[in-house]
Amino acid sequence: MNFKRSDFPADFLFSAATSSYQIEGHSFGGAGKTHWDTFAQTPGNVIRAEHGGVACDHYHRFEEDLDLAASLGLDAYRFSTSWARVLPEGRGKPNQAGLDFYDRLTDAMLERGLKPMATLYHWELPVPLADLGGWRNPDIANWFADFTHIIMDRIGDRMFSVSPINEPWCVGWLSHFLGVHAPGLRDIRAAAHAMHHVMTGHGAAIRVMRALGMNNLGAVCNFEYAHPATDKPDDVKAALLYDGIYNRFFLGGLFEGQYPSDVMEGLEPHMPRGFENDFDLIGQPLDWLGINYYTCTRIESNSEPWPSYHSVDGPLPKTQMGWEIYPDGLHHFLTWTHENYTKGLPLYVTENGMSNADEIGRTDQERIDYLNQHIAAAKRAIADGVPLNGYTFWSLLDNYEWSLGYEKRFGLVHVNFDTLERTPKASYLALKSALAK
Ligand code: FCB
Repeated sequence: MNFKRSDFPADFLFSAATSSYQIEGHSFGGAGKTHWDTFAQTPGNVIRAEHGGVACDHYHRFEEDLDLAASLGLDAYRFSTSWARVLPEGRGKPNQAGLDFYDRLTDAMLERGLKPMATLYHWELPVPLADLGGWRNPDIANWFADFTHIIMDRIGDRMFSVSPINEPWCVGWLSHFLGVHAPGLRDIRAAAHAMHHVMTGHGAAIRVMRALGMNNLGAVCNFEYAHPATDKPDDVKAALLYDGIYNRFFLGGLFEGQYPSDVMEGLEPHMPRGFENDFDLIGQPLDWLGINYYTCTRIESNSEPWPSYHSVDGPLPKTQMGWEIYPDGLHHFLTWTHENYTKGLPLYVTENGMSNADEIGRTDQERIDYLNQHIAAAKRAIADGVPLNGYTFWSLLDNYEWSLGYEKRFGLVHVNFDTLERTPKASYLALKSALAK
């Protein structure tokens, strides 16, 4: 790597992230079915209909995985708690084995000197709640608050930091407008409702955790940089709207007590009745904001119904996902968020990384280059005055990449999905020397 730990402030935290459905093995330990299980069972949704039934079998191998995280030299580990593992029915009686698992996992992090950074919801909606409309149902904020109470009553005393919901854009737009993630809806009204209830759910969970006396609570948003495909005014306007839906909608809710007016032009008629009364709940004071960043896009306007745009191919080198590599976007979002929204609140990069068709023995140079470039962008943001407190690699392990199944490999550690053997990649080893104290 072309950086070392001492290039960053002394208390800067390096970490790696995973999420429960992507690694644990949801068929183990009495977890309930999630909407990803049923989504994956439906032809055409997920490559080869792959699902998270076994995944990396982290449920049984978490000690080995945390050993890998610790020996990489990480300071923290970002993980998530599965709603369906803790509450198989979504509400009501907890699964004691699920609570015990997160309890053991937490202690295992602390024993290895890893700070636990928890996400309450990284997309494991229990199917009984999906049956009730999931994120389209306004009651989900209360269901989510109850889940938050149950899990954090058990492990909240040992968390370094917690954010309620991973990537509200994915939960709202990607899953209910673009139909790419579970529940796979393509409906503007469903999307408007889900986008709002993800925000009320966030606020309700923060309230519960404050009442439990917890601190260091934040939110984690994913951002994507939108270039206009050309400099035609229509494309420029379309790219701005893309930025509104993807990036500014959630920041507006969290930090400005309103949603951006360009987005509301299209969404307002479909919003839940009385949504404008929910901003006190949504805008609970936060201690930090996490940014997940991977790529940029190119936006061209079209004459379809609102939002009247589509993405077109871009010129930059791409990862295995087909995502353009654009480190300046990370610098942009860190400085822009700090200047316009968070204004001094600590920021974290809570996910960044790339997928590659890794095989054991590959040089892994592309990932090393990708990380070098993005870490350099983060360093530039710090030099420009952004209070960036940490950087998180996605991901510790190769894992279940949602609709794209197991072939998109984002890990610093290779996982053989037949034998479940773990093998550190060259990027892991390079990072290990860069992070040595
Ligand atoms: C993010 C998700 C994570 C993983 C990476 C590649 O959007 O949070 O689960 O899928 O993208």
